[in-house]
Amino acid sequence: MKPLRSLATASLVVLLAGASFAQSPMEAAIGARQDLMKLQAYTMGQLFMMAQGKVPYDAKAAKTAADNLAAITAYDVTPLFPKGSDNASGAKTYALPAIWENEPDFLAKYADMHKAALAAAEVAGNGQDALKGAMGALGGSCGACHKAYRAPLQ
Ligand code: HEC
Repeated sequence: MKPLRSLATASLVVLLAGASFAQSPMEAAIGARQDLMKLQAYTMGQLFMMAQGKVPYDAKAAKTAADNLAAITAYDVTPLFPKGSDNASGAKTYALPAIWENEPDFLAKYADMHKAALAAAEVAGNGQDALKGAMGALGGSCGACHKAYRAPLQ
C-alpha cells in the first residue's frame, strides 16, 4: 500500500502545483464555477431524463440525483465569483458584469435554485409524476439566472 499511497500523494502535489502555477486565482475560480455548473447540469439531466421517460423512472436513482442536486446547490458560490471575473474582462467566461451590479439578486436566484432542489428531493422518490411536478420550478430557477446573468453559450 505504501508505494501506492506515496504515488497518490505525489500526483496530488503535481496536481495542486499545476493548478496554482498554470492559472491565476481568478482563472481558477472561473474554472471551478464552470465545473460546478457542469455538475449541476449533469445531475439535472438525470432527473429530466427520468421525468420525461427517456430513461426508466427509478425511485432510488431519482432520489439520489435530487439529493445530490440539493447538496451541490448548497455550495456558497461567493468565492467563485470574484469581482472583475466577468466576460467584459477578457477572461474565458460567460458571466455578465450585471452579476456584480446586482449581487444580492444574483445570490437570491442561487438560493431559489437550492430551494427548488430541496423541494424536488422531497418528492423525487414518489413516482414519475411527482418528479415531473418538481421539474418546472427547478428548470425555471436555472433559466431565471441565466437569462439575467449569463451570456449565450457558444
Ligand atoms: C444564480 C445564477 C445561476 C443559477 C441559479 C444557475 N446558473 Fe448555470 N451559470 C451561471 C453563470 C453566471 C454561468 C457562467 C459561468 C462562467 O462562464 O464563468 C453559468 C454557466 C452554466 C453552464 C455552462 C458551464 C460551462 O462553462 O460549460 C451550464 C451547463 C449551466 N450553467 C447549467 C446550470 C443548471 C443546469 C442550473 C440549474 C440546476 C444552473 N446552471 C443554475 C449562473 C447560474
